[in-house]
Amino acid sequence: MAPTQDALYADIDLALSWSERELPERQRTKHVHRLHPYLGKFIPQLVEILLSRYFRPGQRVLDPFAGSGTTLVQALESGLDATGVDVAAFNCLLMGVKTRSYNPFVLEQELRAAHARIGETTSARPSAYLRRWYAPQAARELLGFRGIAADYEHADVLRVVLARAARSARRTTHFDLEFPQEPQLEPYWCYKHRRECRPVETSAQFLRRYTLDTLARLKEFARVRSRGREASVIHADVREERLPGRFDGVLTSPPYPGLIDYHEQHRYAYELLGLDDRRELEVGAAAAGSSRAALAAYSDGMVQVLLNAKASLRAGAPVLIVVNDRRDLYPEILKRAGLELEERLRRHVNRRTGRRAGEFYEDVLIAR
Ligand SMILES: C[S@@+](CC[C@H](N)C(=O)[O-])C[C@H]1O[C@@H](n2cnc3c(N)ncnc32)[C@H](O)[C@@H]1O
Repeated sequence: MAPTQDALYADIDLALSWSERELPERQRTKHVHRLHPYLGKFIPQLVEILLSRYFRPGQRVLDPFAGSGTTLVQALESGLDATGVDVAAFNCLLMGVKTRSYNPFVLEQELRAAHARIGETTSARPSAYLRRWYAPQAARELLGFRGIAADYEHADVLRVVLARAARSARRTTHFDLEFPQEPQLEPYWCYKHRRECRPVETSAQFLRRYTLDTLARLKEFARVRSRGREASVIHADVREERLPGRFDGVLTSPPYPGLIDYHEQHRYAYELLGLDDRRELEVGAAAAGSSRAALAAYSDGMVQVLLNAKASLRAGAPVLIVVNDRRDLYPEILKRAGLELEERLRRHVNRRTGRRAGEFYEDVLIAR
């Protein structure tokens, strides 16, 4: 028999579940959380509540799969220090840019100077990838901006702007920005805008808009982050990296087998910025699929990560894992890592985005 609505909701932690109206996109992507889109991040408000329930200001939190840095950013807002590890170079670049403290005058001066130069071109020749995915003018403007970025102290901020513009300027349909398969070269019927749309020809408009938007978002975050707190970012395979210092707990959302390729989703950034591609080191790499062998390798990898993290935790520290464990792998993973599952909170996930909408639940596992 199907559970009644009441019985179903009795299991759900309503303080961790929001409707679109209660928590609109604008708030979920507040300040630096929208410096660049990222598929599979958790929402800042969930992190904020978990940090307040399980940590105290002044403590130090570790996120071994830090992704776009949601834990780090919210830790800084809540008065904690944070360390984030990620194997994907672009994610580390993005986290560093989100969490660094800037001299606001230099930042503003540099971003406005770069903004004024958008449209300058260089002699750099487009790679095969750029020629395939960008109109010639769009590629020229992106390469020009890459040259401009190198002239400034805050080159990394400009590189994130460049990546965001490159994402928007690809020759794709508006409804397939996440995983485009083939370049879209002709006008097409757009499901998102319900009219005929055309593939993008230029990137200067995105570069201009995102340079100013990034400046505004970094300034907004500077107003709400706690003084004296710091985030550090480690680019490494967290199964093996020796983690520095002592942490008061872990808060993370791990990859799940065969779902998202965390390198491929930012391919344009790797291509344009010449970043190091280590996709074969991703735990649960999408390319490995979800065969029995792939699931076993995933579980082994997660056990290694948790044992490694545990070695740098104070005794009794909470380990919070946000995951939709539909294969029920975690009870065993936690046991093998010597962690005891203390509580399992369930939350309802509002997935309004595009064609992936639908009912979706996610658990917060609390172990020690
Ligand atoms: C679900 S995402 C984390 C998203 C993050 N909570 C956020 O809000 O942005 C999982 C992350 O784990 C990273 N990852 C996968 N394998 C890794 C490994 N071996 N070492 C470190 N990070 C890894 C991926 O690159 C990806 O960014």
